[in-house]
Amino acid sequence: MAYIVSKLKDFSPAVIDRAITELFAALAGERAAVRDQADAKALRDRWVGRNDGILAQVNERWLRTAPKETKREIGRRVNQLKAEVEQQVEATLKQTRAAKVDAALDISLPGIRRAIGAEHPIVRTMNEIVAVFNRLGYSSAQGPVIETDYYNFEALNFPPNHPARDTQDTLFLSHQQSKAPRERLLLRTHTSPVQVRTMEKLKPPLRILAAGKVHRNDAPDASHSPMFHQVEGLAVDRNITFGDLKGTLDHAMKELFGSEVKTSFRPSFFPFTEPSAEMFVSCFLCGGSGKRAADPCRPCKQSGWIEILGCGMVDPNVFEFVKHNGYDPETISGFAFGMGVDRIALLKYGVDDLQLFFQGDVRFLEQFR
Ligand code: DAH
Repeated sequence: MAYIVSKLKDFSPAVIDRAITELFAALAGERAAVRDQADAKALRDRWVGRNDGILAQVNERWLRTAPKETKREIGRRVNQLKAEVEQQVEATLKQTRAAKVDAALDISLPGIRRAIGAEHPIVRTMNEIVAVFNRLGYSSAQGPVIETDYYNFEALNFPPNHPARDTQDTLFLSHQQSKAPRERLLLRTHTSPVQVRTMEKLKPPLRILAAGKVHRNDAPDASHSPMFHQVEGLAVDRNITFGDLKGTLDHAMKELFGSEVKTSFRPSFFPFTEPSAEMFVSCFLCGGSGKRAADPCRPCKQSGWIEILGCGMVDPNVFEFVKHNGYDPETISGFAFGMGVDRIALLKYGVDDLQLFFQGDVRFLEQFR
């Protein structure tokens, strides 16, 4: 018959002792009969259930009805008993939980495969470019994405109100009017501000590469994005010539796109270089022929050439801003270049919509593992 908490008339220690022994004997019997977790939970409800569990009944039948003079002693015994019962019930639950895990564990089943992340194709392309120049002795430099007008424009020889600024579709931060114009913040439109920032910190000679995000006020479409990526290079030393610029970039392009590509330099304008050039590589998709089999080559617009970067000899006016740190245009010279990473990644991976790189769709990104 199921155990029930007896009512006590006599509260002498001997009677209490017997009642407690009887209670634990009942608990031991019921624990022994527990087969699984459901049984263990039923045991828990029956013994420590809040409303009419056996412990609640012990309170009701033994403690509440005890005569005043025995209450203290009985209270002590009941507390002890409760702690012990709770602990045994908990142990029973634990045993069945462990048994359940044992039963479910089949070590011959295949494990759960964790998807391993991978470099984003843009980051990978950026790292590849950086690695080529690292091997030529260039080290990595960095600058902030939120830049001041001074570094983004003024120190790069874009005077205030100069029309060259209009070519950059700048995104300015709001509430900057109270600051001096050169202190005003904007999202850097190119990685070129890292040139002056680095020359302020390091004395010549210098060979650095700066890769990172830039922003312009462009509506997103298949070939534009308000956020994109550039890699900037700068080399300064005594006697650096345009020949060094051409040799360095020609070598780098062969490393990046294959030893068969050719380079072509065409005159251009940038405020911070003089002379300036745009560099093209022969189209590495059609081999410079402008055709792929019988079809016109679209990426190079059938011209056989792809524009890759802007470059030039550092304008003496730029060195004037860092003359105090050893950059005297009378004694040193340098070259600089800046290239867009995103377009290179598009071409390299044969992707036809730039937006795919930034939408974060794993099904797209997984293809680049
Ligand atoms: N900053 C230029 C742009 O975003 C690219 C550039 C041109 C960088 C010439 C250079 C350079 O370092 O010398 O259009």
